[in-house]
Amino acid sequence: MKVLIYDDAERAVVSAADQLVAVLETKPDAVFGLATGGTMLPLYQRLVELHRDGRASFGKASTFNLDEYIGIAPDHACSYHTYMREVLFKHIDIDPSRTHLPRGDCADCVAEAARYEALIAASGGIDFQLVGIGQNGHIGFNEPTSSLSSLTRIKTLTEDTRRANARYFDNPEDIPKYALTMGVGSILATRRCLLLATGVTKARAVAAMVEGPISAACPASALQLHPKATIVLDRDAAAELELTEYYQHVHPKGAESVWN
Ligand code: PGA
Repeated sequence: MKVLIYDDAERAVVSAADQLVAVLETKPDAVFGLATGGTMLPLYQRLVELHRDGRASFGKASTFNLDEYIGIAPDHACSYHTYMREVLFKHIDIDPSRTHLPRGDCADCVAEAARYEALIAASGGIDFQLVGIGQNGHIGFNEPTSSLSSLTRIKTLTEDTRRANARYFDNPEDIPKYALTMGVGSILATRRCLLLATGVTKARAVAAMVEGPISAACPASALQLHPKATIVLDRDAAAELELTEYYQHVHPKGAESVWN
């Protein structure tokens, strides 16, 4: 794992955006895995700015999002389809037919999960996966005790996750109970993975992910098995790490190591 610690969230976001854009520069038709959530908002804003400045073109790129709520149609205001459209897709030059999210309004969600996983495989696999982390250590909607080899499937959301996402729904009863999510195994199969975490509320989960045992109790800890995982943090999210001095020695202020 490459652990990059920045002085503040803004620098962490700039670094994550630069790393994504560097992939586009070497492979304009790259396949990106994308995430939603509050942490990703400034990152997508930054990508939109880079696109407007002529520094990032997504014209040949494809995307697959990690997850979508079950029972929520793509045009629902709280769907992740809507989030992605409003926050990123409509502001950049991506071909909408090359953007993919699982359909939450599926009649047969087991079949939808299999279709989604097959679509990722048919695209040639994900070159660069963006991931956030939940306070409970989830990645995507892989809640604690998720199989570390799981593929896209239906997951029941924890009450903690439902509470964390309540801010997006007018009525607490409308918060979905289930989601379709790429599995931990799907995320491990990506060629490169960047997890972005900012803020002190993530500090415990980040420490468990990076320095704890590999355990389904903290699904993000499976990233220890990923051959190319980069963890991009601000100081607050890094606050509970014990080996901070070492990470900062290898990557002072998030700089590349001398071997890169
Ligand atoms: P957040 O969500 O960015 O809104 O904190 C991250 C996650 O739950 O994966």
